[in-house]
Amino acid sequence: MTFARVMIFSLFVLLAFTGFANILPQVQGDPPAEEEINTGSLDMAGMIALGERLFTGKGTCTLCHNNLGRAPDLLMDDLSQTLPSRLVDARYEGVAKGKNGAGAIEEYLLESMREPSKFVVAGYGKKGTNDTVSPMPVVNKAPVSLSDIEMNAITAFLQNKAGFDPTVPLPSAGEAPAADASDDGDEEDGPATDAVAAIEKFGCSTCHDLEGSEADLGPKLNGIGKRMDDAAIAKSILDPNAQIAEGFEADLMPQDFGEQMRVSELNLIVDYLKKLPE
Ligand code: HEC
Ligand code: HEC
Repeated sequence: MTFARVMIFSLFVLLAFTGFANILPQVQGDPPAEEEINTGSLDMAGMIALGERLFTGKGTCTLCHNNLGRAPDLLMDDLSQTLPSRLVDARYEGVAKGKNGAGAIEEYLLESMREPSKFVVAGYGKKGTNDTVSPMPVVNKAPVSLSDIEMNAITAFLQNKAGFDPTVPLPSAGEAPAADASDDGDEEDGPATDAVAAIEKFGCSTCHDLEGSEADLGPKLNGIGKRMDDAAIAKSILDPNAQIAEGFEADLMPQDFGEQMRVSELNLIVDYLKKLPE
């Protein structure tokens, strides 16, 4: 047993090094991704890759589109089935009604982002609205504020995932996507150094009315310092299901902030929240 394990481990190490040896020179030879994007010379593969990064990053889509069941799990669903089925749904009255094919899917996806309430997937509407109002934020407005090119990139990513050839236009030279969208790392890598940056980094204002977002998926946090001490506020961020705020449901707030946040970021956020006026 042990011998086999050692062999497997050695093999793994060997493969890993061979892998690196093969990859490294190519990586060094490539121009930095950012430059490629800033010239506007993005091909469709680049658009799809950008869309994937935006989906999990700046777009904050995975805050809700995950496996917690509060929104369709767009990364796990078979989009080749679900997306076309929306267009023939009796309740669907949007721009792609009665159409089919990749172009219709593009229209549906862009519409979902610009006017989420145009069609609400059954069972996911805001409570008490009988699936007529979507809890999803309009993503080309604050706080998410995606540009048209960024929404096109996400559309290309989702079209591709659904098995369609992306039909979105490529950005022309000079139409550079926002710099923070193109460089993958820095948002996730460096710890936020002030509270507003930390709140933006973790998408709190997508659900809570913070920094003027007027989001109402989560409770208002104004005056929270009067109701809870620091430890209780921290706990409700790190372990949201431990105690559910009155009138709200469990499982909506991401459960993994504890894994993503630095202690310094948590402290900044707690300090900021407890000082919010009533
Ligand atoms: C605050 C939670 C939330 C966020 C953030 C969010 N969505 Fe949604 N989204 C939903 C919910 C809930 C639905 C289902 C109700 C509906 O159809 O509007 C939905 C529906 C959709 C649909 C239709 C899915 C289908 O199966 O027909 C698409 C496409 C979509 N969202 C894309 C996005 C993208 C792209 C982003 C990020 C830029 C995003 N969403 C961010 C909650 C969210
Ligand atoms: C996808 C939506 C969503 C996101 C993103 C989100 N929250 Fe929440 N949050 C909720 C919901 C819904 C509740 C109420 C249910 C509960 O208590 O878990 C809540 C509850 C809370 C509470 C407890 C409020 C009370 O009155 O008991 C605090 C504090 C809080 N969130 C802070 C944050 C912070 C800080 C962030 C960002 C790091 C954040 N939330 C991100 C949806 C969200």
